Amino acid sequence: MQDVEAIVKEALAAFAGIDDADRLEQAKARYLGRSGALTQLLKGLSKLPAAERPAFGSRINVAKERLEAALEEQRDRIRARQLEARLTGESLDVTLPGRGPATGGIHPVTRTMERIETLFRSMGFEVADGPEIETDYYNFTALNQPENHPARSMHDTFYLADGKHLLRTHTSPIQIRYMETHRPPIKIIAPGRVYRCDYDATHSPMFHQVEGLWIDEHITFADLKGVLVDFLRRFFEREDLRVRFRPSFFPFTEPSAEIDMSFGEGWLEMGGAGMVHPNVLANVGIDAEKFQGFAFGLGPDRLAMLRYGVNDLRLFFENDLRFLKQFN
Ligand code: PHE
Repeated sequence: MQDVEAIVKEALAAFAGIDDADRLEQAKARYLGRSGALTQLLKGLSKLPAAERPAFGSRINVAKERLEAALEEQRDRIRARQLEARLTGESLDVTLPGRGPATGGIHPVTRTMERIETLFRSMGFEVADGPEIETDYYNFTALNQPENHPARSMHDTFYLADGKHLLRTHTSPIQIRYMETHRPPIKIIAPGRVYRCDYDATHSPMFHQVEGLWIDEHITFADLKGVLVDFLRRFFEREDLRVRFRPSFFPFTEPSAEIDMSFGEGWLEMGGAGMVHPNVLANVGIDAEKFQGFAFGLGPDRLAMLRYGVNDLRLFFENDLRFLKQFN
């Protein structure tokens, strides 16, 4: 039969090594349970000589109490360790800044377009729209751009597989669509995406334009100059900004000009403009003897680049959040 002290020693060592409440109760049963080691000793008591029984019995009882006490301590230790683990696991750092809802932001080019719209609306322009997939007629023919014009080449333009449609190469077709459904006075801008086979630091195959069109009885080139100078100065918030109209050619305006601007050193090209060609007015059934006006096309991407100091146009369209987040 095992010695009481040996059992106690073994039990204490076993209890101390357990860190799970269920397993601790199982260990308890091995020593104090109905067929546990100590209980077995107690059962053997009757076989001892009567004189030895009380002493042995009390040794067993002392041992039982020691084990009970050790169990209680170990239970406490396990509970404390579990609490500790929970506290560290679920800890709440009240000094952390709140996460808040993840809000999106407005793209710098969209922001620029909104600014352009606001400024032109304040000058009495309405905002018009048109499809990005166009027909040859609206993109070229109605704009007095003959069949053999180089801009029509496969090299410059994205044609759809049906051979009938193309991605508009400029916002000028909106001039035609608007004039087909409205009579003068017409005073609109038309912002939107346009497409050309181009790709470098200042050209992306998709870019933006803002078309302008003002047709009435007495609109002149002076009005064109006034509107654009006023717009650019307000857009860049600089009264000293200079604007230059450089003679140019577009099939749908006559005379035509490139619009350049300068903050001091050098000139930057901002778009094209001119007086709407009488053939264009004729194509939409507007009497060119009575009505005249101007049109312009500005590059909002260019405006955004200058306003925000961005040196590569393609950054706007790569959707790299590290870049885009700087604007929100
Ligand atoms: N559509 C021309 C272009 O994309 C710009 C333009 C618009 C020129 C209106 C004159 C008048 O280059």
